[in-house]
Amino acid sequence: MSAKLLEGKKGIIFGALDQNSIAWKVAEQAHDYGAQFVLTNAPVAMRMGEINKLAESTGSDIIPADATKLEDLEHLFTKAEEILGGKLDFVLHSIGMSVNVRKGKHYTDLNYDWLEKGWDVSAASFHKVMQTAWKLDSMAEWGSILALTYMAAQRTFPDYNDMADNKAYLESIARSFGYHWGVRKKVRVNTISQSPTATTAGSGVKGFDGFIKYADKMSPLGNATADDCASYVISLFSDLTRKVTMQNLYHDGGFSNMGVSDMVMEQFMK
Ligand SMILES: NC(=O)c1ccc[n+]([C@@H]2O[C@H](COP(=O)([O-])OP(=O)(O)OC[C@H]3O[C@@H](n4cnc5c(N)ncnc54)[C@H](O)[C@@H]3O)[C@@H](O)[C@H]2O)c1
Repeated sequence: MSAKLLEGKKGIIFGALDQNSIAWKVAEQAHDYGAQFVLTNAPVAMRMGEINKLAESTGSDIIPADATKLEDLEHLFTKAEEILGGKLDFVLHSIGMSVNVRKGKHYTDLNYDWLEKGWDVSAASFHKVMQTAWKLDSMAEWGSILALTYMAAQRTFPDYNDMADNKAYLESIARSFGYHWGVRKKVRVNTISQSPTATTAGSGVKGFDGFIKYADKMSPLGNATADDCASYVISLFSDLTRKVTMQNLYHDGGFSNMGVSDMVMEQFMK
């Protein structure tokens, strides 16, 4: 297999906040595999300045955009095509935030203004990203669009709170828009359902430290790291996966098909 699996491919990577971010690892690997891309994040996330280091090490431009604002997204896609010199082969949506989770609001006592904000950022933004690319005709044929999700969309993890519902909505958007993209441009749209991962977004979930250990002991291959996730993303951006679309793809060391594991049972057999 060519070491330059993504040679000649151009794209946009949303969501690299710091070096723990899944999107950060994707950017590093995409660069190593020969891709060219624009980095983007919400203007408020730029204040930390970390993303500048990533831009430097990967030779990328940064275009700030709030993924809930259509005017920001139009500017982003137009500029990205200009900078990269053509249509896009890949887009990574690696964005998530729940105000209710952040502020410790219980699922049985949700603040609905916060719910709407979290839904807009975590789910509707994926539609907005794709609709903008659609209207501007920004994607190249056989391109790949990906978003990141979590298994709480299918099974109940109480502390994941309203993010569970946001992820269910996000995954549905991938299927619904995936149909239209496939017919019009042979572009594929998928979600990757990733193991719990120690990032800013992940660690914000109550009980995260215990949960990540539990998931690790439940998964025959152990938890997938952010770097592992990035490698999977690269494969889905590559031409080796051109007929995979409208799927929710588990990337979790086997967790999603487990009932119980010996390592977890040991905790109860003492
Ligand atoms: N960490 C985990 O345990 C885990 C597990 C499964 C899925 N995911 C998903 O992976 C994705 C990436 O998260 P992460 O774990 O790398 O954490 P992260 O905190 O590093 O990344 C989340 C990103 O979302 C960005 N963001 C928030 N609001 C935005 C807005 N309005 N516009 C543009 N960007 C905005 C943040 O600035 C940040 O860069 C998220 O969708 C998350 O839900 C994470």
